Amino acid sequence: LSRLSFPKGFVFGTATSAYQVEGAASEDGKGPSVWDVFVRRPGAILNNDTGKVAADEYHRYKEDVDIMAKMNFDAYRFSISWSRIFPNGVGEINWEGVAYYDRLINYLLKKGITPYVNLHHYDTPEALEKQFKGFLSRQIVDAYVNFADFCFKIFGDRVKNWMTFNEPGIVALYGYDPGTAAPGRCSHPYGNCREGDSTREPYIVAHNFILCHAAAVQRYRKRYQATQKGRIGIILDFSWYEPLTDSVADRQAAQRSRDFEFGWFLHPIVYGEYPKSMQELVGERLPMFSAGEIDMVKGSMDFVGINHYTSQYAYARKAPLPKSRDYLMDRNAGFTTMRNGVPIGPRAHSNWLYIVPWGIYKVVTYVKEHYGNPTIIISENGMDDPGNGTFPQALHDTKRIHYFKSYLPQLKKAIDEGCNVIGYFAWSLLDNFEWTSGYTSRFGLVYVDYKDLKRYPKMSAYWFREMLRRKKN
Ligand code: GCO
Repeated sequence: LSRLSFPKGFVFGTATSAYQVEGAASEDGKGPSVWDVFVRRPGAILNNDTGKVAADEYHRYKEDVDIMAKMNFDAYRFSISWSRIFPNGVGEINWEGVAYYDRLINYLLKKGITPYVNLHHYDTPEALEKQFKGFLSRQIVDAYVNFADFCFKIFGDRVKNWMTFNEPGIVALYGYDPGTAAPGRCSHPYGNCREGDSTREPYIVAHNFILCHAAAVQRYRKRYQATQKGRIGIILDFSWYEPLTDSVADRQAAQRSRDFEFGWFLHPIVYGEYPKSMQELVGERLPMFSAGEIDMVKGSMDFVGINHYTSQYAYARKAPLPKSRDYLMDRNAGFTTMRNGVPIGPRAHSNWLYIVPWGIYKVVTYVKEHYGNPTIIISENGMDDPGNGTFPQALHDTKRIHYFKSYLPQLKKAIDEGCNVIGYFAWSLLDNFEWTSGYTSRFGLVYVDYKDLKRYPKMSAYWFREMLRRKKN
């Protein structure tokens, strides 16, 4: 396997997000995001860790870019922290924050690495949460477009690959159903939440994400695309749901699971409406698009970013679980990683992550067949090592190498069969703040010693270095 196994111009990179790697959470004028606030909730994060320092990329970006260059990567996908640029979400601009991203972008370009910039990775400005409940309000659309427009204007001379959002479905689901992610709202009796309505809020939030996305794409196309010549898309999480058995009921349950995870966003963006299964099962709780909004939403992407890690079996439930024990219960499916006592694949460190190479093939070919063969970027793929964290053993990450070595040929197979995949980003460049798991989960190709923030490339980083080495012809 080498980069020559992939089409000409295929891009290989690594990915991170602002809150997970930057640190400097209240430095140089940055305003708080909902994650800065959420992590202070007792018990919300393992060991009560926070992203205050994280991997300190804010101060060490040059070292990180040097590592990417050394490992022969073509591109870096990172996110811009909205509240580092607009501490209040709108209004006053924090030019020190702008200067940071200018330095990062310029240094990437100097080292021959293409920036892929994502405008939102969970970290909504807290000021907007306070002011109008963030994504629960339509007011978020103007605020977001104002921020996106500013980024296009200031960075768009150098940035040609934009993503509006990362995994909005995860925010809508975990932020508003169990409430285990920022802003931590829910109405379940067991939840660690302030307030909320888990039967409605996830759908309202997702709807507003879609409107924000489409409005920002419209703005980019109207004002910037012709001169800047870039492209813009969205990043969605796509786990593969395989029917547990061949029964019609299980196949339908798997289809509902796909609809409620990625159809939720991709269906409106491609077809201008939510998947039929969602319309039926959510009924009047599912917001509707006006005719004007349909025009704006439909076709609002140049590519779709897919974050894919794992697969699981879906089955039809005999009886629905009680509301208090299920997330997005409307999809009415059960999930398992076992079939006839056999796990779907070996487990990584995270309890949701099973290593299932054929899943990436299924996801990509499914998108090709159901959504008109769009341009696809695999915007995240990777694993955290079981038993990770011990140094220096963690540098010897043969399981991670095995993961990439088995997923990439499955991706190649899909490409050979006509899927229009143009790039691949490993999650993650370095170990970082893994949301509710804090620092206990290490997804990096590069080990970070959190005591002194020193970086140590793992064997998998060197594996990429060899794989990506340019060979003649
Ligand atoms: C995302 C993901 C990442 C995670 C990664 C490993 O939203 O893109 O949540 O931020 O760190 O998926 O779990």
